[in-house]
Amino acid sequence: MAEKILLMSDIHITEPGTQIIGLDPAARFWRCLTHAAEHHADAAHLFLMGDLTHHGQVAQYKILKQCLADQPFPATLMLGNHDRRRAFAEVFPECEPGFRQGRHSFGDTDVLYLDTLDEQAEDRHSGRLCPDRLNWLKSELEARQRPVIILSHHHMLRSGFDGMDAIPLRNGTEVAEMIAGSGRCQMVINGHIHRIIVSSYRGVTHAMIKSPCHQMPMVLGAGASSLSVAEPGGYGVLLLDPVAPLLHHVDVDLPECPVACDTESESRI
Ligand SMILES: [Fe+2]
Repeated sequence: MAEKILLMSDIHITEPGTQIIGLDPAARFWRCLTHAAEHHADAAHLFLMGDLTHHGQVAQYKILKQCLADQPFPATLMLGNHDRRRAFAEVFPECEPGFRQGRHSFGDTDVLYLDTLDEQAEDRHSGRLCPDRLNWLKSELEARQRPVIILSHHHMLRSGFDGMDAIPLRNGTEVAEMIAGSGRCQMVINGHIHRIIVSSYRGVTHAMIKSPCHQMPMVLGAGASSLSVAEPGGYGVLLLDPVAPLLHHVDVDLPECPVACDTESESRI
């Protein structure tokens, strides 16, 4: 049976009483955790793929820690452009100091997770892999003998949303080239955009997942990166496979729709 991995990105925890376009990020995150525990209790791991908090404040990380205390999955926390290293380390001293990058092995697959946060970025929100992090990724890819899945907060390729494409992983093409050249990587998955998008670069799939909280409106082209829409929140369910891994997306809090069987038709769809 394929190993199942849960992916939640762009949680954007705020302080109590502070909403994002009328949504409570902690409540939306809690709904996703509860939903995952109920429907995917067999998942081996949960990755939180950055933008853990909205302002990188200690009080916000403390709320995140409370949310995670009672959920059942082993969790790995990544950082995004809204995070701040010092505040994160203050609340999560059990996490190793330094870049929040690493590797977890599941069955036949190795999952590498990247730290794309650049706190010195002039635009404040783009990401970058510095030479140290590039070298780490290069050595990991060279050392791996098995299929690899890579998790990143920032997107490496064009998303089609101009506002977001102004704040990508700035050396994303170089990184995507390195990944493709390794011949090891099945799929890159990122957050940051708050929308489901699938693209590819030299045969490697790049997939992007929604946020548990607020989403990017489906308006291609010009637009600010701060545009948001209160569509249902969600999370990714990744089924690992040495030949054909697949990524599902779960929308939480959809309107109630009872499952029906079309008895008139042999095939439902
Ligand atoms: Fe975000």
